[in-house]
Amino acid sequence: SDLGVVLVGFSGGQCKEGVDAAPTALVGAGLLDQLSDELGYKLHGDTEVHNFNEMRTANDEPHRGMKNPRAVSAVTEKLAEQVYEQAKEGRMVLTLGGDHSIAIGTIAGTAKAVRERHNGQDMAVIWVDAHADINTPETSDSGNVHGMPVAFLTGLATSDRKEMFGWLADDQRISTRKLVYIGLRDVDRGEKKILRDNGIKAFSMHDIDRHGIGRVVEMALAHIGTDIPIHLSFDVDALDPMWAPSTGTPVRGGLTLREGDYIAECVHETGQLVAMDLVEVNPSLEVAGASETVRAGVSLVRCALGDTLL
Ligand code: ARG
Ligand code: MN
Ligand code: MN
Ligand code: MN
Repeated sequence: SDLGVVLVGFSGGQCKEGVDAAPTALVGAGLLDQLSDELGYKLHGDTEVHNFNEMRTANDEPHRGMKNPRAVSAVTEKLAEQVYEQAKEGRMVLTLGGDHSIAIGTIAGTAKAVRERHNGQDMAVIWVDAHADINTPETSDSGNVHGMPVAFLTGLATSDRKEMFGWLADDQRISTRKLVYIGLRDVDRGEKKILRDNGIKAFSMHDIDRHGIGRVVEMALAHIGTDIPIHLSFDVDALDPMWAPSTGTPVRGGLTLREGDYIAECVHETGQLVAMDLVEVNPSLEVAGASETVRAGVSLVRCALGDTLL
């Protein structure tokens, strides 16, 4: 089958350099070759890594506390178009980040394509992460946009300035009712209120300890339903630092590699997957663990795209 590939070397949604090198590292570890040679995908799109950091400029002063707002807005606007171009052909889309701010673009792109192809239907998002990334510019302590993508995508944060994410249109947004989190364990105070006030479904590490990963994935999929396309946005920091140490905001007490792979396998099994993001691999951090983190990323993508154990 067909797979659109989008490789996003971009680090402007947070303050640490190196996360822009992840696509090169993942491709270098053989991920794309494996997808075509072993899993049988026909790859489309640019399989060269695009350096989106070139879109960062001087004169990108903070706006509403957001750091690099013009660059992140411009990069994600362009990504929304690139992902849409792949998704509108009915291709599954794989995006390798980059930091998690890029999901503003990838999800905007698939949400629009899904609406066009399925008579205005909403798309579901499964967000696997230690963090909720649902700060508004006003609730964020850090000002890093990688902590805000879900707020912009759901319309909880808006802007009337085009160059500050005002380009996001209704047909590119998602519903809070079709959003589900797995793996949360570092959620800011303002984010907890947003999750509560909007009744957003979230499975924390506590829920995984209580019910086990099998039951949690079953409940997450039951929440979104069987009749809806799924975008899987996977932040590698959902995994415990034991398995994925090389990431910008590691949090202990996370998923095992097998639990992460299991989530990806189950989402694949639904047959509803239309897109996957893999983000926040930063090979320049915890250099000793970089190759392990890259290997974990390769494994997560393979599982989501249909690699089976037997
Ligand atoms: N909640 C923190 C913030 O808003 C951390 C976000 C981490 N996000 C991520 N994609 N790793 O700054
Ligand atoms: Mn995270
Ligand atoms: Mn925090
Ligand atoms: Mn994230």
